[in-house]
Amino acid sequence: MTGGVAAGAVTAGTGAAADITAAARVVAASKVYGTGDAAVRALDAVTVGFPAGRFTAIMGPSGSGKSTLMHCAAGLDSLTSGAAYIGETELGALGDRQLTLLRRERVGFVFQSFNLVPTLTVAENITLPLDLAGRSPDAAWVDGLIDVVGLGGRLRHRPGELSGGQQQRVAVARALAGRPEVVFADEPTGNLDSHSGGEVLALLGRAVREMGGTVVMVTHDPSAAAHADEVVFLADGRLVDRMTGPTAGAVLDRMKAFDGRGGGGAQ
Ligand SMILES: Nc1ncnc2c1ncn2[C@@H]1O[C@H](COP(=O)(O)OP(=O)(O)O)[C@@H](O)[C@H]1O
Ligand SMILES: [Mg+2]
Repeated sequence: MTGGVAAGAVTAGTGAAADITAAARVVAASKVYGTGDAAVRALDAVTVGFPAGRFTAIMGPSGSGKSTLMHCAAGLDSLTSGAAYIGETELGALGDRQLTLLRRERVGFVFQSFNLVPTLTVAENITLPLDLAGRSPDAAWVDGLIDVVGLGGRLRHRPGELSGGQQQRVAVARALAGRPEVVFADEPTGNLDSHSGGEVLALLGRAVREMGGTVVMVTHDPSAAAHADEVVFLADGRLVDRMTGPTAGAVLDRMKAFDGRGGGGAQ
């Protein structure tokens, strides 16, 4: 399978078309953890773009480098070599302070473990990134978000009073509150039952298709990946394939093919 012409334009990474369409991208990205005998090459010369206005899933077996790719693309970790960009900003050229501001103002995050602040209410959690940045929330946007996540009746509750699925929907609203250029989600349904997980995935899809957002989601679950517009596949730290219009069955078949040729072990 191939992503075709549109995906090729962003995959190229160095051409003019790539610069226009990618909300985030990495070029010849390598990441080595540790040194000497203990060195692990978690990413090996990966070039991939994540198109603006689309929902992209990063898929691959456990240990294939998915979280490393996401963390480096999002400015949560640095590359050993190569470059990572948010829009036209090269992350490696930024100092710590600039990187903190970029993460706060231009990127949204959703983690497997929700990472809400337990002492704050739902409403306070949703606007926390804006409060930290000293920005006043766009009230109409935030009200719309609260409608979309369906937690209007829970705004004064604390996270501990919510189910896991509700907490993750708050986390998605928090990630979207500042209208970031791109939202990165690492296994956002990993701690949820399939019904709650489906609600969170539908929400991420609406963020892209109805609200004009860009989402990059790491998952090892073919049915989660099927919510995306496109899936990029990693194996052993390398980009090995991409698939547009994925279905759970097609993604599962592709993953089985990796196993068949020893591409990275079972999930
Ligand atoms: N902080 C770290 N120190 C050393 N090795 C790491 C670290 N983080 C990840 N790795 C290794 O890098 C590889 C890729 O890990 P990761 O990106 O977490 O994979 P995935 O998210 O696909 O499961 C694995 O071999 C993992 O053990
Ligand atoms: Mg991971």
